[in-house]
Amino acid sequence: MAVTRVSRRQLLSTAATAVAAATLPPVMAGRVDELASANQGAAAAGVLRLGGDLAVARMGYGAMRITGNGVWGEPADPARCRAVLRRALDLGINFIDSADSYGPFVSERLIAEALYPYPQGLVIATKGGSMRSGPDGWTANGQPEHLRAACEGSLQRLRIERIDLYQLHIPDPRVPYEESIGELVRLKDEGKIRHIGVSNVTPGQLAIARSVAPIVSVQNRYNVSDRGSDEILAICEEDDLAFIPWAPLGRSGRSSTPDTGAMARLEAVAGERSISIFQAQLAWLLSRSPAMLPIPGTTSLINLEENVAAARLRLSVEEMQRIG
Ligand SMILES: NC(=O)c1ccc[n+]([C@@H]2O[C@H](COP(=O)([O-])OP(=O)(O)OC[C@H]3O[C@@H](n4cnc5c(N)ncnc54)[C@H](OP(=O)(O)O)[C@@H]3O)[C@@H](O)[C@H]2O)c1
Repeated sequence: MAVTRVSRRQLLSTAATAVAAATLPPVMAGRVDELASANQGAAAAGVLRLGGDLAVARMGYGAMRITGNGVWGEPADPARCRAVLRRALDLGINFIDSADSYGPFVSERLIAEALYPYPQGLVIATKGGSMRSGPDGWTANGQPEHLRAACEGSLQRLRIERIDLYQLHIPDPRVPYEESIGELVRLKDEGKIRHIGVSNVTPGQLAIARSVAPIVSVQNRYNVSDRGSDEILAICEEDDLAFIPWAPLGRSGRSSTPDTGAMARLEAVAGERSISIFQAQLAWLLSRSPAMLPIPGTTSLINLEENVAAARLRLSVEEMQRIG
């Protein structure tokens, strides 16, 4: 699955051309639509209206990786992580996904260190409802009092007064789901949250959440070899919710029934098109649904540029059918 030197070079020259024109002024709002019309930077993936009012380029950035091993503690090279965040904005990304539990607290703090004061139109999404016990150790906590404290901590670390998209990280089996969502509704009513999203949900849990509050997005594991959320994706498409696939490159978590055949067929398409398998995975997601908002995570400038260069790519109907 290695990307060849030639395709890396080609990629970077494509990305560099896109970047030259895509360098963003302090105000990103409105620019996203212009960049989309010009087929440039992250907005070449198209523009999604999150919650009806936030224009986001349909290629975002996942900030879980700017932490230590096991998503715990400080990253090996914080300066490089800050540079990646700044470069993401240069490349036209205006949707960044984080969580208080990444580090914990490290990802949100680095986002503020790198990007504050934020350009108008940058959408920072974060999450609460998951606590950490150590590297790779995660525990759900959907207690209303925890969610309130988590949201207020995120506001402080991000240095903002309102979080554009606040996502409940994972349902807590010890707390009725409607009670957890109910606390997010109260935080929204107090002006601390603009929109509410959910994550790691079944269609039934999504329905419960939607009976309590307007939900604008779902973040579930999804990629070419993990289609476990196809039913939810269809609901998102039908009802204009954003679907934010985590592990878009299949690098974290695992599916109980991975479709290795689809991955092999995608690799063949990548070879024919002389694009990397990572770009092919992102192109597959973008082609799969207009509701899709991929958030590939990286700590590498080269990989970031490669991923954003994929915003221009779409697979044909025939290629999508072959991959299955
Ligand atoms: N809601 C949830 O429960 C949940 C769970 C997991 C993740 N997430 C969110 O989803 C985001 C993405 O998920 P993820 O980071 O786990 O998985 P991913 O995006 O599928 O994969 C990220 C990994 O792939 C590597 N990578 C990225 N681009 C690459 C490229 N072009 N070439 C080669 N390697 C590349 C990165 O390494 P390098 O750093 O070396 O590039 C990193 O290790 C996270 O950042 C987080 O925001 C949410």
